[in-house]
Amino acid sequence: MQAEYANANVWDPVHIDLAKPETWPDAKTNRYDVVFAINLFHVAPIAIAESVAQIAARVLNQTGFLAIYGPFKVDGNYTAPSNEAFDRELRAANAPEWGLKDVRDVEKAANEHGIVLAQQLALPANNFMLVFGRP
Ligand SMILES: C[S@@+](CC[C@H](N)C(=O)[O-])C[C@H]1O[C@@H](n2cnc3c(N)ncnc32)[C@H](O)[C@@H]1O
Repeated sequence: MQAEYANANVWDPVHIDLAKPETWPDAKTNRYDVVFAINLFHVAPIAIAESVAQIAARVLNQTGFLAIYGPFKVDGNYTAPSNEAFDRELRAANAPEWGLKDVRDVEKAANEHGIVLAQQLALPANNFMLVFGRP
């Protein structure tokens, strides 16, 4: 793809399955400033939080950060009726383990890997940006 699009400053995409650690980037050879997950958590089981936290803790530089964007519950509560409806829809139409995760559960998984929630930003359309970094 680099050749095809003449963008030497963009690496070819790598396939990562968050449920399969053998597909994860090797921290010895790869260090990143940012790990960015967009609209992932509501279409996967909560175990994905553990995987994302583990990868971030493994490959982020000392000052790097993990940014997670999407709809979340906060302290067990929906932040909008539309998010509650979306949550029910996702679980009914796909799998019971899909649906909105709680910020606190994502934070718990991150803390277990030594990264902490630095910012919880409320964004338009009832979404959040959760920014995690090393303490
Ligand atoms: C709702 S789409 C979001 C796609 C894109 N990030 C966006 O915001 O438009 C969810 C994405 O999560 C990915 N995904 C789901 N489970 C995954 C897993 N175990 N490992 C890696 N990616 C996963 C899917 O392949 C899909 O691309």
